[in-house]
Amino acid sequence: MTKLFIKTGVQLAFDDAGSGPAVVLLHGFPFNRSMWREQTDGLRNQFRVVTPDLRGHGESEVTAGTATMETMARDIAALLDHLEITRAIIGGLSMGGYVTLALARLFTERVQALVLADTRAQADTEEAKRNRFVQAEQVLKEGMQPIVDGMLPKLVTAETTAMRKDVVDRVREMMLNTPPEGGAAALRGMAERQDQREFLSQIHVPTLILVGRDDPITPLVDSELMHETIRDSRLEIIERSAHVSNLEQPEKFNEAVVKFLRRITDGD
Ligand code: MLT
Repeated sequence: MTKLFIKTGVQLAFDDAGSGPAVVLLHGFPFNRSMWREQTDGLRNQFRVVTPDLRGHGESEVTAGTATMETMARDIAALLDHLEITRAIIGGLSMGGYVTLALARLFTERVQALVLADTRAQADTEEAKRNRFVQAEQVLKEGMQPIVDGMLPKLVTAETTAMRKDVVDRVREMMLNTPPEGGAAALRGMAERQDQREFLSQIHVPTLILVGRDDPITPLVDSELMHETIRDSRLEIIERSAHVSNLEQPEKFNEAVVKFLRRITDGD
């Protein structure tokens, strides 16, 4: 793990493993870079895999207030500068996908290809926004437990809950370890995020869209919408998985990602 001040003024923690074309993977809310362990292991013999903790999460610095998707995207662009990576394949799951889309819009020239996992292009509804602000206040008072209670049943399938205690414990642990102030800032940032649907038709890089068949948070229909609008996109549905498809079905997830990455990097 490396931890450094980047030029957006925060200290970011990240892992940088392997060598080859650069792949940057952005975690969801309220997780951290450890969620990509199986992907790092599966890719590092062919790719340089960079996995940061987004600000307010994991071992990165916490900033109070609102952490917008654009702020987090600027952090990642600054990290790429620091690592002297001109262009990278950028991937993100859920909130990491929101940040990935913001980065693709703000720093188009830095993006060689996209991986959008269990995410969506739409902004929050008014009701969802209000809930996020309520949740932000709640976590500041009570910590992350209410978020765990609300989200955990939707993150994994009933089968995973019954059979894969290791996965459930790992997801719970990541959530409980997120600093409440960082979680609150991300909740406000997600509430304020832009609707990216119009931007989708301006994406001209190869894009892999992955989604758990039973994802109730960012359901298949959201991925189908992105697939219909992003010209050079491929949709892979991960069976026997809900929202954290990379953790529930790491082999299937990795297989789809490696196939996609080989296609684009061999063609370069
Ligand atoms: C995530 O996994 O990052 C969150 O579920 C995203 C969201 O709440 O919209």
